[in-house]
Amino acid sequence: MLNDIQEVLYDADQIQQKVQELGATISQEFEGRNPLVICVLKGAFIFMADLVKTITIPLEIDFMAVSSYGQSTKTSGVVKIIKDLDASVQGRDVLIVEDIIDSGLTLSYLIDVLERRNAKSITLVTLFDKPAGRKVELEADYKGFVLPDAFVVGYGLDYAEQYRNLPIIGILKPEVYEK
Ligand code: PRP
Ligand code: MN
Ligand code: MG
Repeated sequence: MLNDIQEVLYDADQIQQKVQELGATISQEFEGRNPLVICVLKGAFIFMADLVKTITIPLEIDFMAVSSYGQSTKTSGVVKIIKDLDASVQGRDVLIVEDIIDSGLTLSYLIDVLERRNAKSITLVTLFDKPAGRKVELEADYKGFVLPDAFVVGYGLDYAEQYRNLPIIGILKPEVYEK
């Protein structure tokens, strides 16, 4: 698996350090608000699990599965809800947990859905940000690392459903997907 990685951008320790920092900030921000923390499956599952363990205030968690990349390295531009939330967001302070923002299409779609369902507030945390990929204007409230314009995998991020279990984030060798 690691043989398919051209360059490791951040290793497991660097990621954990950053997750800790984000968790501390979020704990302060949401003190006394019992946020509904939403994991955007599948990519955000590892970040979500690590992040909530570093948050020290009461919260509720829920999951939503959306997908737009499928088996490709480029977004289809069409965001599909594969699994919806169990909880109602009506009147809730919502924290969306995402692994990466690239074109911004996934999150702008999701934010729109949650606004229409009358969330009280929507806050966005992403571990990785790839600003060069943006197709719509969208900025996270909290972000971990800014990445170069390359296709990355690991720590939850996939190519064709593979590599999610790598503990690092790295650039995938183009020869892997240019076949
Ligand atoms: C990936 C990633 C983000 C989204 C970011 O999800 O996990 O959710 O794309 O890209 P965007 O800003 O261009 O929309 P994907 O659609 O691959 O589904 P997955 O999480 O199940 O891998
Ligand atoms: Mn995703
Ligand atoms: Mg994906």
